[in-house]
Amino acid sequence: MSLRGMRMVVSAGPTFEDIDPVRFLGNRSSGKMGFAIAAAAARRGADVVLVAGPVSLATPDGLQRIDVRTAVQMHAAVLAALPADVYVGAAAVADYTPREPSPRKIKKTPGSASWQLELVRTPDILADVAARRPRPRLVVGFAAETHDLEHYALGKLRDKQVDLIVANPVGTPGSGFEAEDNTLTVFMADGRHALGTASKAQLAEALLDLIDTRLAREASANAIDATGDRTPT
Ligand code: PMT
Repeated sequence: MSLRGMRMVVSAGPTFEDIDPVRFLGNRSSGKMGFAIAAAAARRGADVVLVAGPVSLATPDGLQRIDVRTAVQMHAAVLAALPADVYVGAAAVADYTPREPSPRKIKKTPGSASWQLELVRTPDILADVAARRPRPRLVVGFAAETHDLEHYALGKLRDKQVDLIVANPVGTPGSGFEAEDNTLTVFMADGRHALGTASKAQLAEALLDLIDTRLAREASANAIDATGDRTPT
């Protein structure tokens, strides 16, 4: 089965949450992992929408790119790009954002040794995509963890009601955020699949092979449902 003709929405990169006109909360995501997935899917003939946080990467050939800055903007852009056959959430979305960004540069308070910033939760894009009707046939999330990778990945699989969670260890040089390479394990309800350590471009291809297989399996299960019998292979 090929991705030709399938619509795929991919999120990539960080989000930046503004504190004031000169400061923001961000993270180390470069966008390389998500861009590699989007580029590989476009090469396979998918109709790809890449929703990108603030990154300095060139737009891969053959896809539509939508640039956003904040988690709220990414949420709106991803939901507007639906319906889709597949959603891949590779972006590192801020979980919290300042309650009220200051329109003016915040100045130091003389004599005060500390400063408190009130943060509020951002919308959970992945969970909202999974709850959306019509739901994409496959909703794929990532889990970036410094410890207890499997425990947190399985929690996200369950809590966010997604089909696949792609887990990567982060916090060590040479893999995860910013690096050219990554180490991925895919968790699903019926097992796991270690994709190993490789370049992000190679891992994107391996992940798309897995997505392809899952879509084919789901299509054949639907065919069985429709006929009440097994379709000839
Ligand atoms: O961009 P690179 O430098 O190449 O690095 C790649 C990567 C490490 C960023 C990538 O492989 C990765 O792991 N992306 C997800 C990072 C992350 O934020 O993970 P998380 O465990 O905090 O979030 C879990 C999932 O929920 C993710 O699919 C995330 O996109 C999604 N999420 C999180 C919060 C939120 N408000 N909305 C979301 O959709």
